[in-house]
Amino acid sequence: MDRSEALTLVEPHLTKARFEHTKRVAETATKLAKMYGHDTIQADLAAIFHDYAKNRNKDELRQWIVKESLPQHLLSYHHELWHGPVGAILVKKELGIDNEAVLSAIRWHTTGKAGMSLLDKIVFLADYIEPGRQFPGVEEVRTVADNDLNLGCWLASRNTISFLMSKNQPIYPDTFHAYNDLLLQINKD
Ligand SMILES: [Fe+2]
Ligand SMILES: [Fe+2]
Repeated sequence: MDRSEALTLVEPHLTKARFEHTKRVAETATKLAKMYGHDTIQADLAAIFHDYAKNRNKDELRQWIVKESLPQHLLSYHHELWHGPVGAILVKKELGIDNEAVLSAIRWHTTGKAGMSLLDKIVFLADYIEPGRQFPGVEEVRTVADNDLNLGCWLASRNTISFLMSKNQPIYPDTFHAYNDLLLQINKD
């Protein structure tokens, strides 16, 4: 599948703003892939599909989680976390995408997890730093992302955890696992 075909498939499923975000994530993921030695075409495609399920309604996402035997504890966390795991299932079912590396990057792009692949990290970080993002600390992560992928991902997970804690929000366990695992990798580097 080429990029224009992928964009054509995704566009009807997203709001205008989400589609624009998607294109910026794809550009950023391509740049990171080039920097860190990953296939740029695959990174571009994974990023184009990363938010495929983002604009589905909550009830539909909930039904997929139940029907597809995704971890049921997802339902106890904010629905913002549901579109990654459900998106990975829907791009397979509806678009026939079966590349496991791409599906994994879609699945984990919001929470992260321990043991992320290079592609998982690229999409996770691209989603966090794409040029349309404006929140405290993002500029520091952008600068770090140019030099150290693990440190960039770790800062993104740390900022997410701090932000959620400051709002007394629950934190999905895999986000903590990502934070700990990336910290170990940084200290090894
Ligand atoms: Fe997302
Ligand atoms: Fe996104």
